[in-house]
Parts: sequence; C-alpha cells; structure tokens
Amino acid sequence: MPAWGVLFLLWAAAEATKDCPAPCTCQALETMGLWVDCRGRGLTSMPALPARTRHLLLANNSLRSVPPGAFDHMVQLQTLDVTQNPWHCDCSLTYLHLWLEDHTPEALLDVRCASPSYAALHPLGQLTGYELGNCGWQLQKPWAYPWVWWDVALVVVVIMGLALLAGLLCTAREPLL
Ligand SMILES: *[C@@H]1O[C@H](CO)[C@@H](O)[C@H](O)[C@H]1NC(C)=O
Repeated sequence: MPAWGVLFLLWAAAEATKDCPAPCTCQALETMGLWVDCRGRGLTSMPALPARTRHLLLANNSLRSVPPGAFDHMVQLQTLDVTQNPWHCDCSLTYLHLWLEDHTPEALLDVRCASPSYAALHPLGQLTGYELGNCGWQLQKPWAYPWVWWDVALVVVVIMGLALLAGLLCTAREPLL
C-alpha cells in the first residue's frame, strides 16, 4: 500500500473516533459518512450522535423511546437498526415511526413494541396513529367556536329568505293562471 494510502486510513480512523459517542464504535466510510455501531451496549437513552452518521445500529439495547427530532441533524442517515429494544409504543414514538416510514418503511415491521399492553409484541408498523395516541392534543369540537353559530344563523336566514321569495313568486303568478 502506498504511503498516502496508509496516511488516508490513519486520518479516516482519527476522524471517525473524534466525535464517536463513548459507548459506540465508529468507522469512516469511503463516502465521508460514518458507520456507528451501538449494538448491545445496554443503552437506555440515545447517545449524542455525530452529524455525519450514515448507518446507525442501535439494536439489542434497552431503549424505550426516541426524543422527537433525534435524527434531524443527521441528514445523511440512511440505515437505522432499532430492533431488539423494549420500545414503549405510545405517542412519544411517533417521531421514530414517521422517520422509518419516510426512509425505510419495511423496517417498521421488524421493530417490535414491548409496551403498553395492547401493543406488546406487535410490530411498530402495525399500530395506527390512533393507537400510538395523540400526546394530549385534540381537535376542538366545532360547536366550541361561537362564530360557527353565526354561520348557522346566516344559512338559516338565507334559506328562509329564499323560501319567502319563492312563495311570493308563486302567489304573484297565480292570478295569471
Ligand atoms: C445483546 O447484548 C448483550 C449485551 O448487552 C449481549 O450479551 C448479547 O449477546 C446480545 N444479543 C444479541 C442477540 O446480539
């Protein structure tokens, strides 16, 4: 191997370890991205991940949820392995659900939930938005808005006006028959 090849490998190795999260191992890819391997490290929360992460392996940990936006800074992220974790599949997992749906929809069927009870052992991809829950936000019922009643009143007035007009027209014609 030529000297510049060795230098490149050393540089790549140094670059890869520079911002590698402590519990994980990282490897630089030829394409400038990072391969970040955090499998089986007993993680209970997401480590601080480098922005250059392209392949992220989080399988076989104790992760229960992913904070919303956790992968947003990793614009190159292509593969995400989050299998074999005790995921708590409620509204707090909506971000992970949407991320997988957008990037690797087939992986949604490999990610299994551990809790809550109705979701246990189900793949994340099988749960509907309704089952994941809505984190407390709710559409307001239309009758909670007072101005809806003004619209209703206006429609009633217009219908009554039209009926009255129709009635007047009919009675006005009758003498002609
Ligand atoms: C999962 O990780 C643990 C260490 O946390 C390891 O002992 C075990 O072999 C791993 N299991 C698999 C299936 O990789």
